[in-house]
Amino acid sequence: MTQLPTDAVREVTDPGGRPALELKGPGGRVRVGLLGAHVQSWQVSGKVERLFMSAEASFEEGVASRGGIPIVFPWFGAHGLNSDFPAHGFARTSEWELAKVGPGAQVILSLKDSAATRSLWPHSFHAQYTVSVEEGLRVALSITNTGDEAFTFEEALHTYFCVESVTDALVLGLENVHYSESAKSPAGDVDPARPIRFTAETDRIYQGVPETIAISGAKDRCTVQLKTSGADSAVVWNPWIEKAAAMSQLGDDEWKDFVCVESANCKDFAVGLQPGQEHSLELTLTQSPA
Ligand code: BG6
Repeated sequence: MTQLPTDAVREVTDPGGRPALELKGPGGRVRVGLLGAHVQSWQVSGKVERLFMSAEASFEEGVASRGGIPIVFPWFGAHGLNSDFPAHGFARTSEWELAKVGPGAQVILSLKDSAATRSLWPHSFHAQYTVSVEEGLRVALSITNTGDEAFTFEEALHTYFCVESVTDALVLGLENVHYSESAKSPAGDVDPARPIRFTAETDRIYQGVPETIAISGAKDRCTVQLKTSGADSAVVWNPWIEKAAAMSQLGDDEWKDFVCVESANCKDFAVGLQPGQEHSLELTLTQSPA
């Protein structure tokens, strides 16, 4: 591992004893695991946890724990052609390397194509993930095409936010934005002109989204702001009762405790890169009151 020259970044282990880094800055304390470059925790003043992590999350080798900010890349959801390939791509279950530490509470993690990734996705790429704690938590995923052919990919920062209760939470900023719903039993009475309220299984891809979205009803009645750049899609997801009961790494009652708002580029907004081109998706999370 690269030497850690700063008090703001230290080596720790996650609850499963796997290598991780802890970043401390004005916006709180963040733990990021090297497996999956997975931001697992963001604690703000008073040790309030902003990112949901299931009490049943597995921290075993090779497993993407349910919670935090898993990275979805290079495809979103099930693979289009091969159902044996991992859902949401391979980035969240790959070992990333620590490429750079600092300045301040910042690290850059790196993932390059390998024989394993090329067996699933036949392209040369370099993914860099910057995590920094400033006035809030900032993450930026940049993908470079290092091969000699163009490729197209999907991506998402699949953020699980803690809420007091999903039935009281609202997602603001996606009013009147076009979406497609893929929940099996969705709410029947959605008014697209109003902030999103959760009353049933919700699994929506919003396309052509604004750069600012907010979640009210976060833990301690806070509001969390999401500010993105380079993200045209947003996925809003809560499994509700039946799907939660059938899911791995999720307690039967935990559907009440989180909402996922994923900053993404998927489906019609998949990203195309020519050889040598780079694309960056950035997300900054802040809370109010601070
Ligand atoms: C969301 C999808 O992004 O991720 C949902 O829209 C899916 O359909 C959810 O259920 C969780 O996926 P996974 O693979 O982490 O269980």
